[in-house]
Amino acid sequence: MARQTVTVVGGGLAGLSATMKLAELGCKVNLVSVVPVKRSHSVCAQGGINSVSDMTGEDDSIELHAYDTIRGGDFLADQPPVYEMCYNAPYILKMLDHIGVPFNRTASGNLDRRRFGGTLYNRTAFCGASTGQQLLYGLDEQVRRAEAKGLVQKYENHEFMRVVQNQDGEACGIVMMDIYTLDLTVLKSDAVIFATGGNGIIFGKSTNSMHNTGAAAARLFVQSGALLANSEFIQVHPTAIPGKDKYRLMSESARGEGGRVWVWGNSAKRMKNPADGELITCGVTGEKWFFLEAFYPGYGNLVARDVASRAILAVTDAGLGVDGKDQVYLDVTHLEPKTQDKLEAILDIYQKYTGEDPRIVPMKIFPAVHYTMGGLYIDWPAYDAEDRLSRFRQMTNIKGVFAAGECEYQYHGANRLGANSLLSCIYGGLVAGAECERYMQSLGKDVLSGSDGAFEEAQAKELAFKQDLFSRGGEENVHLLHEELGKVMIDKVTVRRSNSGLDEALQKLYQIRERYKHIGLSDKGNYVNQTYIFANQFKYIIENAIAIAKAARCRDESRGAHAKEGFEDRDDENWLKTSIIRYQKDLDPHISYNSVDTRYFKPVKRDYTKAVKKKIQVENPPAYVPIVTSRDYGR
Ligand code: FUM
Repeated sequence: MARQTVTVVGGGLAGLSATMKLAELGCKVNLVSVVPVKRSHSVCAQGGINSVSDMTGEDDSIELHAYDTIRGGDFLADQPPVYEMCYNAPYILKMLDHIGVPFNRTASGNLDRRRFGGTLYNRTAFCGASTGQQLLYGLDEQVRRAEAKGLVQKYENHEFMRVVQNQDGEACGIVMMDIYTLDLTVLKSDAVIFATGGNGIIFGKSTNSMHNTGAAAARLFVQSGALLANSEFIQVHPTAIPGKDKYRLMSESARGEGGRVWVWGNSAKRMKNPADGELITCGVTGEKWFFLEAFYPGYGNLVARDVASRAILAVTDAGLGVDGKDQVYLDVTHLEPKTQDKLEAILDIYQKYTGEDPRIVPMKIFPAVHYTMGGLYIDWPAYDAEDRLSRFRQMTNIKGVFAAGECEYQYHGANRLGANSLLSCIYGGLVAGAECERYMQSLGKDVLSGSDGAFEEAQAKELAFKQDLFSRGGEENVHLLHEELGKVMIDKVTVRRSNSGLDEALQKLYQIRERYKHIGLSDKGNYVNQTYIFANQFKYIIENAIAIAKAARCRDESRGAHAKEGFEDRDDENWLKTSIIRYQKDLDPHISYNSVDTRYFKPVKRDYTKAVKKKIQVENPPAYVPIVTSRDYGR
């Protein structure tokens, strides 16, 4: 068959990796991105990318990386894909090094490594504290090479609106919108890969970029019946600078390089130690209280993120917040200048946004919504599944639609370990590219042949919705509705969850869904109409918010980022299950549950109070084939 064409939606690390892989395999790619590719949210990633190196002298191993990842995710992740990702990580690092990513190096020339949360090993390679930017630019160069060969056509500043399927349900293209002119056009292709990132904007303020609304994946959920999985698991990063517009990440690498979190102690106050529930005194009055180190002596400031965030909230709830506010200190003032230099990128951000120099004055930080562990459901036949080659890894339940990166659910379980996201984005993107090519070869037919009228119909649906929105003359303001939605999601659906709170949140979300029908657009123009663009997205944002709240309401246990009052323990007997969420028009989403593949590591209670370096061995480790080939090295 002639070489085929794929539409990749999203130009961050996952989208660029998929594009690079497809181009290496000789496929053509339409690369659609709502922002210029180099402004994709991956550019904001700071601290690093995990992989095991045999140069650290710590006796680290692939098994330990997989184990830390699975334990960090509170055992909810299916273990074969995680293991396979960790196995591939060193190959990916080698590829990134070969294509010229400027990693920090040790004096002997090896990649430098720092420690990140949820592990005792120095496993994180980094480029100062702007790793995402350097990786994104490195992959962008590779994609530009393919562009120069005519294999890639970029559609930047275009938003995905709808997937188009032929009469057999196979994806055969998309409808997209030019965000300057609002024009709707179609792109025909043999398959589609989603790499559209997370959905932090549902929560109003987060560390995400303002375009991370999750609308693309939610459109697929609502319009096309794509399944979501584990949507209730939302990561709250422990350290961000609170801002009026958004929260700005202060990387975990600050703690990886020796930064410490503290508040002033107060011996008159008592609180429950979040590690064991014992009533304790809150440090000593007039002295710094390094409470993470006190609660979790084994991991200290580098406990897993869900644990650190809850501990910070417990301390501010006890009335110990700095200046009486919801904030604690993140202190790097004691670090050597050469160590502070490794953090220059984030220390400059702090100084720019607060006016204070964090090299001299401790930073004031607070937890913020950061990452979406759940997302589009994708298939993942394990290496030994008899039907591995008749199924396709990273494919959603819609034939020919693949997903990679933060928009899918596969690699992080109930809580992601720091510095595993860049890895999962690149790994998932490379796998999606390779599997998508294999899918197209397996089709043995032209998917466009059964698509008569499908493009016209899809485009007409989008046009009708656009006209509907422009014609609404109601009193409701979509931005104010968003503010209300974000507030209820933050108050009831993030760190503090209870069934009564989630019920309240759902009622509020239903009201917002109703009120949305009565919005009026303050801008009716056809050029860069941000209000219209957001109003269109908001229909899908609401449904995604309902899916998150509903899945949280149903899960009666506490696991990873999902902690519920009245159900404080993890309940493996009833809830070691993946939530699978299906949209139902005008009803609550339907939720069913899949069992979790725990074949390598038996679930145990997470304990970050002790620093025990366990020997982890997997019997008969699988003989994987690396996803990275020498073709990926940019030659
Ligand atoms: O803290 C950070 O640098 C964030 C990294 C990540 O989310 O993996």
